[in-house]
Amino acid sequence: MNLFRTRSISSLLTVASEKGLRKTLGAADLVLFGIGCIIGTGIFVLTGVAAAKFAGPGIMLSFVLSGLACVFAALAYAELAAMVPVAGSAYTYSYAALGEVVAWIVGWDLVLEYSVGSSAVAAGWSAYMVGLLKAGGINLPHALTAVPADGGIINLPAVFIVLFLTFLLVRGTRESATVNKVLVIIKLAAVFIFLALAVPKVNPANWSPFLPYGFSGVATGAAIIFFAYIGFDAVATAAEETRNPNRDLPIGIIGSLVVCTLLYIAVAAVLTGVVPYTQLDNAEPVAYALRAIGFNIGSALVATGAIAGITTVLLVLMYGQSRIFFVMSRDGLLPSAISKVHPRFGTPYAITIIAGVAVALISGLLPIGLIAELTNIGTLFAFVLTSLGVLVLRYTRPDLPRPFRCPAVKLVAPLAVISCTYLMINLPWETWVRFIAWAAIGIFVYLFYGYKHSLLNK
Ligand code: ALA
Repeated sequence: MNLFRTRSISSLLTVASEKGLRKTLGAADLVLFGIGCIIGTGIFVLTGVAAAKFAGPGIMLSFVLSGLACVFAALAYAELAAMVPVAGSAYTYSYAALGEVVAWIVGWDLVLEYSVGSSAVAAGWSAYMVGLLKAGGINLPHALTAVPADGGIINLPAVFIVLFLTFLLVRGTRESATVNKVLVIIKLAAVFIFLALAVPKVNPANWSPFLPYGFSGVATGAAIIFFAYIGFDAVATAAEETRNPNRDLPIGIIGSLVVCTLLYIAVAAVLTGVVPYTQLDNAEPVAYALRAIGFNIGSALVATGAIAGITTVLLVLMYGQSRIFFVMSRDGLLPSAISKVHPRFGTPYAITIIAGVAVALISGLLPIGLIAELTNIGTLFAFVLTSLGVLVLRYTRPDLPRPFRCPAVKLVAPLAVISCTYLMINLPWETWVRFIAWAAIGIFVYLFYGYKHSLLNK
């Protein structure tokens, strides 16, 4: 048994060109696609809880810490993404660099990032939608808008949005990319309206005490709001559908990350500046803060933009998941029946629908905090493995063309590993237990299915 057998990069590229997806995306599409996936439930929802319970106004520093970890990981990601421009992102890269079993573990973790992550995002969407309807005088029953852990039966708005986007994704990437662009612009407008209305009302007294829970609170806050950065790597999952991946992928990944980091630090500073951080522990903190300083219409506008913005995140994450499953099944590690491409729409419809239903159920039934933390730990672990992969490939395959080279790789890749591991360590132990259970199930599936059906046996 050889668990560390690898795919050659040329074979990955050949399969992709034989059984490939249509190439329709350019650099600008990718930056928008990145922002589309990054700014969402993390900044609009989780910042509130993280500030109130852990970091206080020091949440600004949490964003810096977490953003740094992402920049290191993004540089490594971009090197691999440009080198192996095939759908599947970290999963595909580890297949070439670290061997099949590691690739499987990464792919299995990406399910946490994309599917479980989508569920958390859908829960955030629901919170803003329910809040907005309430502000307009429409009160949906608590039982149908809350998960059992919060005293409800099911979070129906979350289920609804997931199923609706599943339908859009089955219809096709091109249409989805157009919808995405409009929504990203509305989302950026929402962030700027919030800043414009709230900046003049900042009261610096609210920033004191700056670190109510000390530095350990800032670190825990960073581990939680890491969620807000998830998505820059989704740009890489679109590699196979990109017209000029060598140039466009690095631009897409790093460009979108830089824009979002700056906006996050600004929003975090202003949010904790306009209301005392202790008040931010609620489902829609950004809209709440605006109401608290007297902007009811502004609050409704920003909530509408947040809903649009969170929708794009959900769209991109669900898109990424379907593409990762698609590639895993094309490689034989998952049943091939699920990678069927729709004859008319050219999309992997079977897996899109299966993943969509799973995401809908998770978001309908489980609490947002739990699923966001599980998403973070899985994603961080995938980043650790990918960053190691970049180093390994530099030594084992120095000959391969690298259209984008990670600068100072001997420093940046280890920094990515260390900073992502540090964030993982700051997550609660319950999250670790769930993560280990998930990994154990994954290893089991690989040994009894993937290993036997892998294309590498042929
Ligand atoms: N970064 C994405 C969000 O915050 C997942 O919603």
